[in-house]
Amino acid sequence: MGKTNNTNETEFRECIASAPSSTANLGPGYDVFGLGLDALEDLVYLKLIKKSESNSDSIKIKIKGEGSKSIPLDPDQNSSGKVARRIIANYKLHRYDFIIEIEKNIPPGYGMGSSAASAVATAVAFNKIFKLDINDAELLDYAAEGEIASAGVKHYDNIAGSFFGDFVIVRSLPKLEFIKIKSPKDLTLVVCVPLIGVPKMKTEVARKALPEEVPLKKMVQNLSNACTIVAGFFNQDIQMICNGIDDCIIEPARQKLIPGFEQVKERSLKAGALAFAISGAGPSTIAFLNSKSRGSEVSNTMKETYGKLNIGCKTFICNPSSGAKIISIK
Ligand code: HSE
Repeated sequence: MGKTNNTNETEFRECIASAPSSTANLGPGYDVFGLGLDALEDLVYLKLIKKSESNSDSIKIKIKGEGSKSIPLDPDQNSSGKVARRIIANYKLHRYDFIIEIEKNIPPGYGMGSSAASAVATAVAFNKIFKLDINDAELLDYAAEGEIASAGVKHYDNIAGSFFGDFVIVRSLPKLEFIKIKSPKDLTLVVCVPLIGVPKMKTEVARKALPEEVPLKKMVQNLSNACTIVAGFFNQDIQMICNGIDDCIIEPARQKLIPGFEQVKERSLKAGALAFAISGAGPSTIAFLNSKSRGSEVSNTMKETYGKLNIGCKTFICNPSSGAKIISIK
């Protein structure tokens, strides 16, 4: 396969993979619930060149797309680069030079799983091009390495939503496990992204805003809501899912990082949203609905609310997505 020359045998190969945007937490399911969203997707073009000698590997990251200038190209600070480094080391792929081209359609800093999508697509592309046969849990563990670049720690909720699509429960102890439940077909989401400056490692900053200890009463309240969400997905009952989307621990701590949070929540619920939450670590928020027809009304209300606050915003009316895909391999 690929191209050879006379002096040095080289081999060029390419795998293109996509992974969708996602939302995490869904209110009370902090670090546990992920939901793939068909709003946007990142594409990763993994290109490799086989060298005749096994010496140190090189990884070159190239990124194009909205907001890509703020993403570090150093592989040790880039979510795709971090995933690549670990897979290359573990599978001893040192006879290759790698170019990872990212078509970044999910802007970083939105709270829509941007780093997770690039990390997932990278892990999926490596798995495919080298026929590594990595099982899902292990593959997601590699992908989660990429989250360290934006969150400072591994967390699996966005990764899981982006990889599997639909609704995913992350069980991390005693061993990493993912439980996927199909979403009700009419579940509609409106994501609202206020266009404000966010810190570089904004997920890490948003995690630092959280309390270290939680009163038992609040733990019980969030647990019962989280169970209601799971039961809602299991029963394909959108109203039941939405009844559970109420978080008394994370939301109160993080809402101060999101301008206009209270107004946009109140007005979205009045406009027909059945539930409302911070999307992942924010600053985006997400409204849950049972039909697309109400989506534009909620979206317009969100825009009006931010308009009154003189803050620009973007909205996405979307549905749960299918998961990551291989687009092509050659
Ligand atoms: N569970 C993570 C957090 C999601 O809330 O920090 C980040 O997108």
